[in-house]
Amino acid sequence: MRVFSGIQPTGVLHLGNYFGAVRRWVELQEQAQCLYCVVDYHALTNEATGPDELRDAWRGLILDLMACGIDPERSIVFRQSDVPEHTELCWILGCVTSFGDLARMTQFKEKSKEQVFINASLFYYPVLQAADILLYLADRVPVGEDQVQHLELSRRIARRFNSRFGELFPEPEAVVGQGARVMSFADPSRKMSKSAGPEHYIGVNEPEEDILRKVKAGVTDPGLTPGQEMSPGVANLFSILELVAPPDIVSQFREQHSEGGLLYRDLKQALFQQLMEELAPVRRRRAELESSVDLDELMMAGAHRAREIAEPVLAEVRTRVGLA
Ligand code: TRP
Repeated sequence: MRVFSGIQPTGVLHLGNYFGAVRRWVELQEQAQCLYCVVDYHALTNEATGPDELRDAWRGLILDLMACGIDPERSIVFRQSDVPEHTELCWILGCVTSFGDLARMTQFKEKSKEQVFINASLFYYPVLQAADILLYLADRVPVGEDQVQHLELSRRIARRFNSRFGELFPEPEAVVGQGARVMSFADPSRKMSKSAGPEHYIGVNEPEEDILRKVKAGVTDPGLTPGQEMSPGVANLFSILELVAPPDIVSQFREQHSEGGLLYRDLKQALFQQLMEELAPVRRRRAELESSVDLDELMMAGAHRAREIAEPVLAEVRTRVGLA
């Protein structure tokens, strides 16, 4: 089994990334060979990412990932743009990708609504993502729920390549776990993400008082009569609590809620405390790593290990399609 996943270097690591993907990435290191890639080319499709920001973002992200428990000795941790095979394979895979499939991608439709200038790479984004994965013949891809459609497309691309040029790529499977969908506290109808602004995400390494403020400001409801369905904001608080608190604490709050006696203030306070407990070791390690890691060296080593896998696969692809 080989695991591949990617994360965009766009600012800080937030709870959505942490619970939706990274926590699982850490676990998977025990079970498989894992490749974790900082997808800087993907980040370029976002018009809000400026050069200085991009330069800084990958450094912070690597430290965040290591603080969460990603071990660059055990896993292959690298930057997408350090391995040119990604973009080479991307072009070839584009030739077995349906235009209609790309036009149907939800993420493309949503992102192109947010941007003034809709760049062609935003449209092509899922092809590069397929190349990321297939280049390593990866079969498992731990991602948040929003990436399931892209993974399905990667499978279709693999299948189309295999049927035209002969069996080569395994069909990669999305691994979507509990916690795959953390919503914004300020607007629980949308996914927690950086694009909506700082009130819409909670950074893993944010100052404690900011986290407290954002949790307290979380949208709830004016109180429900017993038996009424939970509002999205409260459901979000509960689902995060479930990820960080012991089951008896969660069921206690659930009971209070269903009886109509729950004070959301208490729920938020408990959530904040449990969350800080979960994040404490990560936050401590992050501060230590800052001064002790040579990131440039680390990235060079990571890219070298990645290319050891990527080069022969791309060579085989070139042969299959007739370029070599
Ligand atoms: N599109 C993914 C996201 O936004 C990031 C990504 C790029 C990725 N390439 C990947 C994830 C390959 C998994 C595998 O989260």
